[in-house]
Amino acid sequence: MEIVILPDSAAIGSLGADAITNLLQRKPHAVLGLATGSSPLAIYDELTARCSTGTVSFANASGFTLDEYVGLPADHPESYRNVINKDFVSRVDFVPGAVHGPDGRAEDIPAACAAYEAAIAAAGGVDLQILGIGTDGHIGFNEPGSSLASRTRIKTLTTQTRIDNARFFDGDLDAVPTHCLTQGLATILAARHVVLVAIGSGKAEAVHHLVEGAVSALWPATILQHHPHVTVLLDSAAASRLQLADYYRETYRAKPAWQGI
Ligand code: GLP
Repeated sequence: MEIVILPDSAAIGSLGADAITNLLQRKPHAVLGLATGSSPLAIYDELTARCSTGTVSFANASGFTLDEYVGLPADHPESYRNVINKDFVSRVDFVPGAVHGPDGRAEDIPAACAAYEAAIAAAGGVDLQILGIGTDGHIGFNEPGSSLASRTRIKTLTTQTRIDNARFFDGDLDAVPTHCLTQGLATILAARHVVLVAIGSGKAEAVHHLVEGAVSALWPATILQHHPHVTVLLDSAAASRLQLADYYRETYRAKPAWQGI
């Protein structure tokens, strides 16, 4: 796991955007794993700026989102399909239909989950997965207790996650769905490169477990310790509970620029 501690979200956005720009330059048909949430926004903003100047293009790329609430109407502004469209997809040059998400309105949920796994496989698998992390250590919506070998399926959201996300539903906890569909931990682990972003002190405990804790279903993100190519982009607040923070800083400082992330 490569740990990069940066001064602010603009620096995180720039480095995260570099990883995607470099990928698309060598593989224009790359498959991107897209995350919703506030953490990746700086990356999306930077990619939007680069796309508008022609530095990067998504015209041949495709994408798969991580998760979706169950039961929200198709036009609900907080459905993750609409959120990712607003925050990123509609701002760059993806062709219509190039970005897919799990169907949270399907009548046959297990069939929809299996179809989503099949679609990712048919696309050749995810080349680069962008991730945030929940305060309880979830990735996607793989809440504590998730099977470390899980695939796309329905999950019950924890009360903590629903409280965290109530801010997007006018602070109304009852309006936050109780269930979601999410790529599983094994699905996420199959991506070729994972770039996880965490910003702010609220994420410090989860980041500590992710990087330095024991691998455990209690902190689902810890499964990423088993992945051969994970880059963790942090601000100082999110890195504040890392025991080896000085070592990570020295390592990154000494890294030759040509290596990229
Ligand atoms: C949600 C999403 C996750 C996201 C997490 C953190 O629960 N399902 O994919 O990583 O929130 O969100 P934020 O980046 O806004 O803190």
